[in-house]
This record gives sequence, structure tokens and C-alpha cells, in this order.
Amino acid sequence: MSRLEAVGDVDVYRGGGSITGAELAARVAGKQALLSMVTDTVDRAVIAAGTELRVIANVAVGYNNIDVAAAREQGIVVTNTPDVLTDATADFTMALMLAVTRRLGEGERMVRDGAWKGWAFDQLLGMQLRGKQLGVVGFGRIGRAVADRAAAFGMTVAHTSRSGGGLPLDRLLATSDVVSLHVPLTPETRHLIGQPELARMKRSAYLINTTRGPVVDEAALAWALKNRIISGAGLDVYEREPEIHPDLLPLDNVVLAPHLGSATIETRTAMADLAARNVVAVLSGEPPLTPVA
Ligand code: DGY
Repeated sequence: MSRLEAVGDVDVYRGGGSITGAELAARVAGKQALLSMVTDTVDRAVIAAGTELRVIANVAVGYNNIDVAAAREQGIVVTNTPDVLTDATADFTMALMLAVTRRLGEGERMVRDGAWKGWAFDQLLGMQLRGKQLGVVGFGRIGRAVADRAAAFGMTVAHTSRSGGGLPLDRLLATSDVVSLHVPLTPETRHLIGQPELARMKRSAYLINTTRGPVVDEAALAWALKNRIISGAGLDVYEREPEIHPDLLPLDNVVLAPHLGSATIETRTAMADLAARNVVAVLSGEPPLTPVA
């Protein structure tokens, strides 16, 4: 806020939940910069209303909430917050991987429900990570950081990548013990993982999603988990946040987190700071620090 206030007047949305498209369009009118969150839909109508906008700074690495083509047509710079959230998101991916493979959610529910009757040799047995294959779908910054962490846990790592390296997706799905998704949400990656892809995975395998919900067909995933087509899933993101497919909620073999991937004090501070510095740079006539590709 202090960085932004140093260059101009700041209009802060303090309403509960996400701002509506109509209100956002009304409030960008006459403004030179928009600092947006992943939950703000900055579509063509909002951008058209921002006739004086020079920069849209998203406080996130993903920017599927912004119509980048519409912004470009209007000569508006779009920026995101790469790098500063890589470690936090990779850490959280490991947290979900460990939670679901070691049945942490089930164990915690048992304790809180007063259903724990004491230590038992064969209680809530999970899967060890050492010696297993992690399949990383999308080998960018976060995918690579997850691969490094998984190697420290004794996993072997396979990956798919847009640049062509690595395994074909089908092969990665068929051979991995844990599949972790790190592709951005684009028209090509929407429902990248649906019923046929889940059916290709090992029955003993786990799926982790810390990228964007619509990369996975949530109804198909609920089907796969319910019918033990795969062993489990760890999810941080959903197709229609904050709604969660009702068939997922009663299932014990899925760990459900409320989109916390980058949620550390250090990381959220760095994200906010980077977004503000992008705004200041553009308004001062300097190149943005982290424009989207
Ligand atoms: C991102 O940066 O894209 C996250 O999903 C928001 O924390």
C-alpha cells in the first residue's frame, strides 16, 4: 500500500468475497492501474471500461483470470508474480503428497471424532515415497522445485513438458506412483486430466493438484476416487472455487485444502510487493519487472 500510495490515489475494494464484474468495471473507469487477485475476473468488458488503464498487475503467478489478449489490444501491460512463490507452492505440494499418501486427514478426523482406540500395528497404513516415481506434469519453475524436493524424499522423477522433453503424458500417467500437476490453465490444459487419463493411472497411484482446478475434470476425479480407480488425491484448487464437487466431500481418500499453495506470510508479502513494484514501474514509464509472456 505504501508503494502504491507514493505514486497515486488508491481505491481499495474492501467488500466481502469477490468483486462483481459490474462493480470492477465501474471502479476501473478512470484508473491507470489495476492490482488484481486470482479471484478477480478481469475480462474484456472490465478491460474495455478501463480506458485509462496502463497496467494490470496480478498478485499471482497464474493469470487465467485476465483476458490478456484484450489487454494487449488496448496497449495495457499485464504482469504476474513468478519466482517469489515457487518454494511455498512446491512445499505445499509436498505437504499434500505426504498428507494423502500417509493418510493424515483420515488420522486427524479419527482423533478429533474420539474414534481412536490407540496404536495398532496395521492402522491407517499408507504409501512410502522412497523408491516411488513422481510424474510431474508441466516442468516449469514450480514443477522443477517439486522434483527437487521429491528427489530428497528418495523418489525418482519423470516429467512432461510443453517444450517436448520428458515422457508423453500417457506413459507418465501409466508409470507414476504420484502424479503432480503444474501446467498453467489454458484452453489446451482445461480437463487435461479426465476419466480416460485417470483410468490410465495405476490403481495404487495418487494425483496432486496445486495449479488450477479446471485442469482436472472434478466429476471424473470423484468417480475415480470413489471407485478406487486411483488410490487418492490431494487437492488445493477446484473447478468452481469455493464450491467443491459434492461427491468429493464424503470421500476419505482425498485431502482437500482451500487454495493455500502460496499462503505463507513471507510469500504473500513478496507477491504483494512485486505486484506493487510492477505498477510503480509502468506508471513511472519504466519497463515492468515481470510482464506475462
Ligand atoms: C497463483 O499465484 O497463481 C496462486 O494460485 C495464487 O496464490
